[in-house]
Amino acid sequence: MTPIIQAVLEEYHRRTVEENTLMDSLSSEQFDQRIDEFLLPIGPQSGQLMSLLIKGAQAKTVVEVGASYGYSTIWFAEAVSETGGKVISIELNKAKQAYAKKQLQKAGLLDYVEFKTGDALQVLSELTEPIDFMLLDLWKRFYIPCFDLAYPKLSDGATVLADNMRYPTAVREAADTYRAHVKSKPGMDSVLLNVGSGIELSRYKTG
Ligand SMILES: C[S@@+](CC[C@H](N)C(=O)[O-])C[C@H]1O[C@@H](n2cnc3c(N)ncnc32)[C@H](O)[C@@H]1O
Repeated sequence: MTPIIQAVLEEYHRRTVEENTLMDSLSSEQFDQRIDEFLLPIGPQSGQLMSLLIKGAQAKTVVEVGASYGYSTIWFAEAVSETGGKVISIELNKAKQAYAKKQLQKAGLLDYVEFKTGDALQVLSELTEPIDFMLLDLWKRFYIPCFDLAYPKLSDGATVLADNMRYPTAVREAADTYRAHVKSKPGMDSVLLNVGSGIELSRYKTG
């Protein structure tokens, strides 16, 4: 990883520390009202793990479902710069995506990312290429519909990760329902990892 990419990640880490302090002071109603102000990033441990998985599998088409301000996008773009692939980054909020683009440019990684603005359900339904790696990190009610749209497009050996499987605890029930759903699908092997906010790591294998 280049020093400039590290510096961009550090910038996000500093903002996260400040935001965590602010979020701790908010009621859940206040947090819900202001949710779009916050990065809500996967964090450095999960970023490192996902980077290792992308590089290890030599994944070419990496789909990020829920990009926020681009923290996970930086990790993925850096990883595909090594595999010769690209990131398809999906985010509903235009302002967040505009910020993400600037950060990717600053890190020298803009050319590795195709930004798609809009509802992930629409974007995933229009996707024509096989998916080698996918992160689900959007509002939890969309995990299962997004997974179901992507499932027929997974390449043999594809990796699917879902964040927030343990934290925040308010979404634990939705996370458990997602985990059971994935395990019920033919060809999916899956395990819960205690990394970051809790990650469901799943792999698709045909035959
Ligand atoms: C937890 S944040 C993503 C954090 C990001 N992966 C990171 O590590 O920096 C979730 C994001 O999903 C986006 N989102 C929620 N529902 C969506 C949908 N239906 N389609 C696209 N994006 C959505 C939200 O706007 C929010 O920015």
